[in-house]
Amino acid sequence: MEVIWNAIKNRTKDIKTVLDVATGEGYFVNLICKNISDYTSIIGIDPNENAIAKASKLYTNSRIKFHKSKAENIPYGNDMFDMVSISRALHHLGDRKASMSEMYRVLRPGGVLIINEMIRDEQNEAQITRYMYHHLRAEIDRLAGMSHNETLTRYEIKQLVGNFRFNKISFLEYNQPDIDVFNRSEIERIEEGCDKISERFEDECIKEKSLEIKGRLWRYGIQNPTQYIVIAEK
Ligand SMILES: C[S@@+](CC[C@H](N)C(=O)[O-])C[C@H]1O[C@@H](n2cnc3c(N)ncnc32)[C@H](O)[C@@H]1O
Repeated sequence: MEVIWNAIKNRTKDIKTVLDVATGEGYFVNLICKNISDYTSIIGIDPNENAIAKASKLYTNSRIKFHKSKAENIPYGNDMFDMVSISRALHHLGDRKASMSEMYRVLRPGGVLIINEMIRDEQNEAQITRYMYHHLRAEIDRLAGMSHNETLTRYEIKQLVGNFRFNKISFLEYNQPDIDVFNRSEIERIEEGCDKISERFEDECIKEKSLEIKGRLWRYGIQNPTQYIVIAEK
């Protein structure tokens, strides 16, 4: 993730107030703290009460707060934040355009928006195995009533950001460096996940998908998809 912090290293001194949208248990907040040392306030928002409770316990620093809220309706005033981020969560949002509009609204002019999102286009076979598994998990989440869609393409993310009047936008990419796509413990972990899904669901389509993913594991291996990173200045 160095690619993100390198891209904004010249402006981190000006970043005091940060909003991390769809923060979950605060994974990205941890990276923000490490890379933006002069911050005065970081707020993480997420509609999942359990995640917010866990994050609040995890972070005891009084400059870091977590609140229950959806991205589609951010409870803060216009132009309030020097930086707004959303990591690994665009594909979770119920209404991406409304959420982007809210993120844009609360970002101050000159402030920076960071999107960190895994993508599904132009991926190698090992990465395709990973996103197929991810998409299956997303389908199961949806059956349970959760908001979790398939991952997006570069074009879809570019189009989404293109709806807003940013002064300057950079698109960057990050791929896991030389990893062993046939790592035994990782393959066994995913195999186990597929088996559990097959046992739990009667639906033939879901069973078929988990079998197909299992079949790919030793043939192509598994690797994290490309992270697509947008750095946009308002
Ligand atoms: C994969 S997690 C990402 C968490 C964290 N940002 C990270 O990088 O690890 C996706 C998060 O999106 C949240 N989410 C789902 N729908 C949302 C919405 N409408 N507004 C804000 N967050 C939402 C989920 O509750 C979940 O915590």
